[in-house]
Amino acid sequence: QQSIRIAPSILSADFSRLGEEVRAIDAAGGDVFHIDIMDGHFVPNISFGPTIVQSIRNITAKPFDVHLMIAPVDPYIAAFARAGADGITVHAEAGPHLHRSIQAIKAEGKRAGVAINPATPVSAIEHVIDGVDLVLVMSVNPGFGGQSFIPVALEKLRQARALIGGRPIDLEVDGGVDPDNAHEIAAAGANLLVAGSSVFAGNDPATYADRIAALRTAATT
Ligand code: DX5
Ligand code: ZN
Repeated sequence: QQSIRIAPSILSADFSRLGEEVRAIDAAGGDVFHIDIMDGHFVPNISFGPTIVQSIRNITAKPFDVHLMIAPVDPYIAAFARAGADGITVHAEAGPHLHRSIQAIKAEGKRAGVAINPATPVSAIEHVIDGVDLVLVMSVNPGFGGQSFIPVALEKLRQARALIGGRPIDLEVDGGVDPDNAHEIAAAGANLLVAGSSVFAGNDPATYADRIAALRTAATT
């Protein structure tokens, strides 16, 4: 089994203390920062833009995994690359030219990810699989933290893992991940687990290390 990495989603951070939250997650053992960008159009919520991403870039050396829930997406890829993204993920549903969007990410020298919503079949990404570094299976309808895991995502993770085969592609899951379902999620093939509310609930930095460890333990045992 591949090594499991935990990606706390800063969407659930206390934005009035964002820098401290990032520092706390870094110290608590988060492996990757998952950064949710929402436009109020592709998804029914608005989060923040590249300026905020840039403002936290120098607080941690850990990778920034930027999840773009915006349409159109191509005009904004360069801005998030410059803001400090290590990987940029676009939705298969965000436009008619997914292949071009992936090429635009690679042209910026960043790791390219493709995400699929709960209603989108894994077959939607079959023909771009050789161009990506990451597949993101959404396990909630994107837009908000704190929603419940949609069980059909487990079958989609198994299908995505089969599609990936021997390729060095991360399989990420996002939405409703907690210590109770992390084991079956990892067993279904995911190796990068996004966790928003299950890490940040209460926004008490003193709890973050235990919560990240609980997810890691559940996923690896
Ligand atoms: C949802 C976002 C998620 C969200 C996950 O649209 O893409 O990354 O922050 O939050 P939880 O873990 O609370 O479901
Ligand atoms: Zn996300």
